[in-house]
Amino acid sequence: MKKISAVVAMLAVTAFAGAAFAADVIELPASMGKVSFPHKKHQETLKDCKKCHEKGPGKIAELGKDWAHKTCKGCHAEMKKGPVGCKDCHKK
Ligand code: HEC
Ligand code: HEC
Ligand code: HEC
Repeated sequence: MKKISAVVAMLAVTAFAGAAFAADVIELPASMGKVSFPHKKHQETLKDCKKCHEKGPGKIAELGKDWAHKTCKGCHAEMKKGPVGCKDCHKK
């Protein structure tokens, strides 16, 4: 019994640490110029993690040009909020 609760406690700590350590602003590198993504601001504004994390919080396997332009730019265009111009996201 003792062993099992120790493992459960460890998993809980790991899950919590993962959520706690996502940086407030995540730098997404791109040849066009890096994109400074204000993660915390999006968490607070959108509340729904699934808008970007379909499979649960953490790394996004699909992250790349196609995913980003569809997901990021798509939502900004739809909500008429947030940058849609290349240079508004890609900074030197
Ligand atoms: C607008 C899109 C968006 C929303 C909404 C969002 N995230 Fe993220 N999140 C990202 C992106 C992009 C990354 C970087 C993923 C990568 O590097 O693979 C990320 C990274 C993370 C990471 C860090 C992964 C790592 O190991 O570096 C965690 C944890 C996380 N998000 C949790 C959350 C939680 C919890 C919520 C909801 C409260 C949330 N996110 C809402 C886009 C979003
Ligand atoms: C809403 C923000 C946003 C806008 C607007 C945007 N991009 Fe991106 N773009 C990204 C993100 C995020 C990535 C993926 C970065 C990554 O994979 O880490 C990306 C990736 C790319 C890549 C691939 C980079 C590489 O290293 O291979 C190119 C090229 C690119 N964008 C060009 C453009 C052009 C041209 C425009 C304007 C028509 C544009 N982007 C508009 C956010 C944006
Ligand atoms: C589901 C909707 C949605 C998605 C997905 C989304 N955004 Fe946004 N984004 C917003 C909204 C709404 C704002 C305006 C927030 C505000 O001004 O309070 C915004 C604002 C921004 C800003 C400007 C922040 C500022 O401080 O002015 C940047 C940069 C940005 N988004 C980048 C991204 C990138 C990069 C992604 C993809 C990884 C992304 N967004 C995905 C809704 C979204």
